Order: sequence, then C-alpha cells, then structure tokens
Amino acid sequence: MTAHSPTRRTVLTTGVAVAGAAAGTVVLAACGGSDSGTSGSSQNTGSAPSGTTVAALNDVPVGQAKSVTVDGKPAILARPTETTAACFSAVCPHQGATVAPEGDAIKCPLHGSEFDTLTGALEKGPADTGLSPIPVKVEGQNVVTA
Ligand code: FES
Repeated sequence: MTAHSPTRRTVLTTGVAVAGAAAGTVVLAACGGSDSGTSGSSQNTGSAPSGTTVAALNDVPVGQAKSVTVDGKPAILARPTETTAACFSAVCPHQGATVAPEGDAIKCPLHGSEFDTLTGALEKGPADTGLSPIPVKVEGQNVVTA
C-alpha cells in the first residue's frame, strides 16, 4: 500500500514537469522568433517616400484588407469603401510579429492579438495598442503613400 502512494506522486510530478518544460519551450521559441529582424522597425512605418504605389485599389475588395509591402516593410491595406483606402503597419505592437488579415479581423499568429480589418484598431490583446497607421491616398486606380 505504501508503495502505491509514492508511485502516484512520482507520476504526477513528472507530468507537471513535462508540461511546464513544454510550455517554457513554446514561449522561448516564440520570443526568439519575434526578435528576429522586426524589433524597433515599427517606428519607421511612415518613412516611405510620398507617392509610392502600395497597390491597385481594385486589388482589395470593398470592406476587406490584404497584406502588402510598403517601403520593404510588411503592411496591411484596407478598403473601407469603394473609393477609400487605409494602411497600417503589419508589425504587431506587442512583440513585433507580422499580422495578417484572417476572417473578420487582422490577427497576430504569435499570441493571438486581433485588430479591426478596416481601421487597425485593437480588438483583442495581449497587444495594448492598435496597428500604426501609414498615410495613404487614392490616386487614380492606385493607392499611394501620402
Ligand atoms: S507579437 Fe504577441 S500578440 Fe502579436
């Protein structure tokens, strides 16, 4: 009888240790990934030269958004109405992962933050701010940096 109790304790302890180690591994791997090349770049999102074409307006369906590149950096181009566009940095304000439109929101694959598809406003943390806006305007058939 006394041998049964230590055995159960050993199993439980081992299980917790393995689960803790696994969770720690995931967190460390995620942090390492977020630090590779994106840290600090969110401060430079408005630096694209004015008049640089982001995409054709018709590349984005009305009411939706798509991933684009602005001045070599990941960005999101949204089309709130037939004739308007909005652009935000795709660098997550939490730890710098690249966010992307997915379903009815812009989502971060790293920790699950969500942002409004058309405004980039924060909808769900752990990020505590929305996506950084990038000034754009519609010029003819194209969306260009403003
Ligand atoms: S980097 Fe953590 S939620 Fe985006």
